[in-house]
Amino acid sequence: MRLCVCRTLADVFEAIRSLRVRGAPAIGLAAAYGVVLGLQDSCAGDTQQFARSLDQVIDYLGSSRPTAINLFWALERLRSCARQRLATDPPVDVHAALLREATAMHAEDRAICHAIGRQGAALLRDGMGVLTHCNAGGLAASEYGTALAVIYAAQDAGKHLTVYADETRPLLQGARLTTWELRQRGVDTTLICDSMAAQVMREGRVQAVITGADRIAANGDVANKIGTYGVAVLAQAHRLPFYVAAPSSTFDLTLSGGEQIPIEQRGEEEVRSGLGRQIAPDDVKIYNPAFDVTPARLVTALITERGVISPVNATEIRRVLDTPADPAE
Ligand code: MRU
Repeated sequence: MRLCVCRTLADVFEAIRSLRVRGAPAIGLAAAYGVVLGLQDSCAGDTQQFARSLDQVIDYLGSSRPTAINLFWALERLRSCARQRLATDPPVDVHAALLREATAMHAEDRAICHAIGRQGAALLRDGMGVLTHCNAGGLAASEYGTALAVIYAAQDAGKHLTVYADETRPLLQGARLTTWELRQRGVDTTLICDSMAAQVMREGRVQAVITGADRIAANGDVANKIGTYGVAVLAQAHRLPFYVAAPSSTFDLTLSGGEQIPIEQRGEEEVRSGLGRQIAPDDVKIYNPAFDVTPARLVTALITERGVISPVNATEIRRVLDTPADPAE
């Protein structure tokens, strides 16, 4: 594994755009630190200049990837922190406050991931097989992750789980990241190609599916890594519960339904090549949406740090998200 060190705003933008840092909560945190880096040369200027740079930096980072709402949530949190302080404090102090805010968000995310694990652990029983898609662990958030936090918390409670990880074409987050991460924590892990999920379910190898999310609309429709929707349809066909674990910052209550979630379209080369070599003709047409939307009716429960949302509908989402945070956070 190679360390990616970001020293400038452009470094952070490139790291997010090229998926060196990826996963909804991790993108938000990287962007928060990116704002701090992007404003490091603006501290000597006056307040108005600093405010202009703040907006430019935030707009620039906001253009890196469109789907994960955590990116925009984090940027708006820093914007509001800076604006409040700019009324009274000099830019150099506002800049220091932004670093404190980004660091606080990082610490909060760690606690939130643990709370998601605690909230969801009871849904997984000892001896269960669990299917996951993409990577929603510590490589996508802080430390524990979201979907994998539930698996880690169940395991910490003494339950033995067998996890099947979809490889997650085209970029293979499941094969490259999830299998590595699960095995680091001693979880019994089996890698499968995406096309094998139906057979694995039919053979009775899994009793539940759990994934993360990039954005959840007010009605509970879930945008997550491409392929998630297909897995949810399969889970319903095999009468398996389909769980989605995500922090409250992944909910976008301004969108009434999933059809309004912007879906990132990525480059053709990601599909034309695989495993380090070209696998399709140069001139074949390629379509590469990076995410899909799973309708709320296919989601058994949403697991958040505030509690488990089930049934998944707008009223229940509002009710649980309005619940005070888990005191153990
Ligand atoms: O394109 P990626 O790798 O950023 O996509 C990541 C996912 O889809 C994850 O499942 C999601 O962000 C949840 S991460 C806790």
